[in-house]
Amino acid sequence: MFESIEEYILSHIDSEPPLLSDMARDAQANLLHGRMVSGHLQGRLLKMFARMIRPRRVLEIGTYTGYSAICLAEGMDDDAELYTIEKDDEMEDFIRKYFDRSEQQNKIRLIFGDALQIIPAFDDDFFDMAFIDGDKRQYNAYFEQVLPKIRQGGFILADNTLWNGKLLQKVAGNDWQTKGIMEFNESLVNDKRVEKVILPVRDGLTLIQKK
Ligand SMILES: C[S@@+](CC[C@H](N)C(=O)[O-])C[C@H]1O[C@@H](n2cnc3c(N)ncnc32)[C@H](O)[C@@H]1O
Repeated sequence: MFESIEEYILSHIDSEPPLLSDMARDAQANLLHGRMVSGHLQGRLLKMFARMIRPRRVLEIGTYTGYSAICLAEGMDDDAELYTIEKDDEMEDFIRKYFDRSEQQNKIRLIFGDALQIIPAFDDDFFDMAFIDGDKRQYNAYFEQVLPKIRQGGFILADNTLWNGKLLQKVAGNDWQTKGIMEFNESLVNDKRVEKVILPVRDGLTLIQKK
């Protein structure tokens, strides 16, 4: 019998490609925050969104191991481009170990640095889609920088917007990550520039469309 709905879901959707299973295992065993990888369900969902949106150019904030980057790229056309930005350059060897083995490698442009320093250099309306998955304290800042770079009708996905339910509890004064997500959700709800919906998938995924 299935022990949980999640187990049931995972056994009734497309399987996780072997390269990504290897990466997830490697991350769990050898990285401090291995649980940050998107994982099987969200990974298949990201691929499906990319397939549906058919973006020419995608921006990702927060590469980490490259798991979500490969999933997004899987759903993109062969000549489309994914720009993925990672602040922690100590992840480079890990990321390249998997990108080099991936059939998606030609679509992926890996950039090291702080997304907030890098994004302003892109032209306005350059991207059709973005995936925000960096530092939770900076979600509002990322959003304000990313929005002008997205074409009208384009999509932004923001990860972890339910933050393990911590939003519903009393927030400690120094819990800046929870506060960052709460501020992002609060400002988005009245933001007339976009339409939005929160999916209760994994840790919460907000889908945003620029009007
Ligand atoms: C949750 S992990 C990303 C997980 C990955 N997107 C996935 O789904 O598999 C967040 C990553 O964002 C990176 N990060 C945090 N702040 C950043 C910034 N300002 N610019 C670029 N990367 C950042 C962190 O170093 C970390 O690797």
